[in-house]
Amino acid sequence: MFSENTIKQLANYKTPFYYYDLKVLHNTLDEVVKQSQKYNYHVHYAFKANSNKKIIELICNKGLGADCVSGNEVKHAIENGFASQKIVFAGVGKNDDEINYALSQNIFCFNCESIHELQIINELAGKQNKVASIALRINPNVDAHTHQYITTGLEENKFGINPYEFDTVINLIKQLSHIQLIGLHFHIGSQITDLVPFKNLCLKVKQINHYFLNKGFDLAVINVGGGVGINYKEPDKDSIIDFAAYFKVFNDFIELRPQQELHFELGRSIVAQCGSLISKVLYIKNGINTNFAILDAGMTELIRPALYQAFHKIENLTAQIHHLPINQKYDVVGPICESSDCFGKAVELPETKRGDIIAIRSAGAYGEVMSSRYNLRDETRSYYSE
Ligand code: LLP
Repeated sequence: MFSENTIKQLANYKTPFYYYDLKVLHNTLDEVVKQSQKYNYHVHYAFKANSNKKIIELICNKGLGADCVSGNEVKHAIENGFASQKIVFAGVGKNDDEINYALSQNIFCFNCESIHELQIINELAGKQNKVASIALRINPNVDAHTHQYITTGLEENKFGINPYEFDTVINLIKQLSHIQLIGLHFHIGSQITDLVPFKNLCLKVKQINHYFLNKGFDLAVINVGGGVGINYKEPDKDSIIDFAAYFKVFNDFIELRPQQELHFELGRSIVAQCGSLISKVLYIKNGINTNFAILDAGMTELIRPALYQAFHKIENLTAQIHHLPINQKYDVVGPICESSDCFGKAVELPETKRGDIIAIRSAGAYGEVMSSRYNLRDETRSYYSE
């Protein structure tokens, strides 16, 4: 929800840009911390969702750890104040430089995705005379019922180690002296709005945890990843997700042993609702069925609609100030030379004119970080409200 003052202020900046409402982020973080602390859960922020400096600074100040998927993310986290002992490093294709850097920083844990990777980390740790802490990323074959591009926990996905490989892995780990298995890691997908897949994940984790105990591994860490979804349709109604219900599912169904820690890697649910992509209408063009509102922002600033057919609420802020009724439909498109450069079809809006300020909501996660300079576009800019 934008106040009239905010809208007037936004109108002064050169569009397009990301606008972050740090108050929303602040309140979201307070809720995450409050609800996770009820059970002593450890939350790592998934850097891939948004690594904007101001955002991660605030997240770091609230005491969260970091979940990184590249050497540069690990570096960025450390340089911005995250303790290396709160950093987990995942990814199916960590290269040698990235592994060496993370080893040199003594990070908390590598989330290891394949048998081959275990061998390489062992070899590189040996060269540094170190023992790397490892969690095995397990593919639990749990359906997240989300978009196919962001489902990660099915057998057909490239992520993690499959249960049929467990015995081989266990025999191998016993021989590798420069890695220590400290935990199990899972992540079934992203934008999961129903809690049932998380309950199913808990039941799988319970079995697998038991299996490893029977094989002699009393593991200290269980990491269940992230993935809890947000309300893209009504960002103001649910600007903070129900973290109490989310953490409660894990408490109810996972059955940890007394010494075991539960870790999470949350991205979208922390940063999505604090960010909007702000743009100006360049042209209105008459189409056959609906008119086009052509914006100065495109898929280069926010690729989610083009890539995943993702829905983002679109608002005409200028028309909101004038309390204009919503009585028109527009295909809201960007300036990029691709037909997929479309933010929404037949979007219901007030009458929209050149120069109107448009907000594309819930864009704080996987927005700015996925922007590109295709068509040699300007670098993406951002502003904040404190
Ligand atoms: N942990 C792992 C291992 C992950 O792969 C991810 C996200 C997360 C945690 C954080 O998930 P979250 O809480 O943000 O759902 N670009 C896509 C989303 C890709 C998610 C990739 N992995 C989008 O725009 O929807």
